[in-house]
Amino acid sequence: MADFLSQYSIQRWLEMCPQGYLEDTVYGHEEGLAEPDDIMGDEDLRVASIALTVQLIAGERCALAASSGLVNAAPDDASKTFLATQTLDEARHVEIFTKRLVDLGVRKEDVNSTVDELANPNLVKFAEVLLEKVADGDFIAGVVGQNIVLEGMAFSVFELLEATSKDLNPKFAQTLSGTIADERRHVGFGENRIGSLIREHPERREDIERMQSEMTYHMLATFADVFSASGDSMDRGRQLAADHGELDGADMKWHGTDLATASTEDMEAVLANTVLGEFKTRLGRIGLEYRSPKVPA
Ligand SMILES: [Fe+2]
Ligand SMILES: [Fe+2]
Repeated sequence: MADFLSQYSIQRWLEMCPQGYLEDTVYGHEEGLAEPDDIMGDEDLRVASIALTVQLIAGERCALAASSGLVNAAPDDASKTFLATQTLDEARHVEIFTKRLVDLGVRKEDVNSTVDELANPNLVKFAEVLLEKVADGDFIAGVVGQNIVLEGMAFSVFELLEATSKDLNPKFAQTLSGTIADERRHVGFGENRIGSLIREHPERREDIERMQSEMTYHMLATFADVFSASGDSMDRGRQLAADHGELDGADMKWHGTDLATASTEDMEAVLANTVLGEFKTRLGRIGLEYRSPKVPA
């Protein structure tokens, strides 16, 4: 337990995160970086970037509500301490993506109405399944839903977005890489903490596997919606990047798919396969079996 205590202490968090990879950043990126002209000068791309950023905010607001709620449900001090650090991480993620929304031209007073209007309904349902467990004070289900399912999804989505924006939008890519480093810590906690609790409470497996399957269903529906709506703006972004020579020498390979040329269907497939693969591996490590969702109608 000593290792567990120091591994998830506030001291360790301070050293790794604010005094580590976030040192000298401003809202998660180097000072002075801005959204690229390709986005700010093209109305379709700017609107598409706003819609995408809203999904990140919706996901992070759910993580903030879940991690803060789980502080009180946690049965031990080390978990409370870790979840307190996670709460601040998630509040920071909400803040940096909200800042991006404002940088993209959304007025501060319109942030909440924009999120309400553009958040994908399937992503909202995904969040509701998790937040219901948190509201019930169900620590084991809450940690599996948050630190394995929600964050396993977020981790891969952020990696994909980072790979596509590394060369084209360093500001966004840098905010994503700091977020990915945070999510890696959160997922690690979920695996380390929850395996022993599942072994102590095998009777909880059925209910938790059902929650995972339900969340997976809403996640895949979200991916389908978001990718099918993004074809035109993706083509537009690629055209502008090619016109400006920004794709020369750009490396956009992710899990074997070249994101600079892939169709939206290929991107959706590589993302879904990667996330489901992560779920299977991580759930297996904590003694749960991945359960396929019912097939969307
Ligand atoms: Fe997050
Ligand atoms: Fe997180």
